[in-house]
Amino acid sequence: MKKLAAGNWKMNGTKASLAEVSALLAAHPAPVCEMLLCPPATLIDRMAETAKGTTLLVGAQDSHAKPQGAHTGDLSVAMLKDAGATHVIVGHSERRTDHGETDDLVRAKAQAVVDAGLIAIVCIGETEAERDAGQTLAVIGTQLDGSIPLGATATNVVVAYEPVWAIGTGRTPTLSEIAEVHSFLRGRLRGLVGEEAAGVRILYGGSVKPSNATDIFAVPHVDGALVGGASLKAADFGAIVAALSAA
Ligand code: 13P
Repeated sequence: MKKLAAGNWKMNGTKASLAEVSALLAAHPAPVCEMLLCPPATLIDRMAETAKGTTLLVGAQDSHAKPQGAHTGDLSVAMLKDAGATHVIVGHSERRTDHGETDDLVRAKAQAVVDAGLIAIVCIGETEAERDAGQTLAVIGTQLDGSIPLGATATNVVVAYEPVWAIGTGRTPTLSEIAEVHSFLRGRLRGLVGEEAAGVRILYGGSVKPSNATDIFAVPHVDGALVGGASLKAADFGAIVAALSAA
């Protein structure tokens, strides 16, 4: 299994930010791990141009579940693919919170992504209140069951565990808490997709930075990271890519 360092730029970045991509590629032209950046949709096309002929993969942060139609402001998977995306993040907690996305909707989006031949990065994660109440595994188990599309395989689906309270806060679970969740998810995936589960990448996300990446990547069943803030700067994301390549 090739590990995956994925960056989620969220609502950050303009044309000028592509300089960071060039700097990243200059410093890490051929990393051992896979390297993916998901910029805002406005930059997918340009970033894909910048990435042409390199190992950098480009993805989207969301898509509509329907192939086309009267959905003002939305983008279909076919459009994202046309712009150069190979991956689509679905069910990020910010979309679940800001846009009321349910497991059913996330699954429909993930289905549209895999049916179009792209890779769905399915995000799940508990809130701080849920963790404090001892419900972490129950919550993420339900989210996983409800969000994984039919026909999921090791090559068309990636799971990202992102505790909501660790996103953008500088706080992370302990290494043993991460280990507990990732090992639980591997088992749960086995129930959902059988033997394929062994090859499905399970990413950790939430305040990953150069200073904690090496420790997190040493945790069993952590197959990479989904990185927010630290993916915006070539030096930081490059250091995380290097840590994952060495893991
Ligand atoms: P941060 O790395 O900024 O905590 O964000 C994580 C995230 O939400 C990536 O999708």
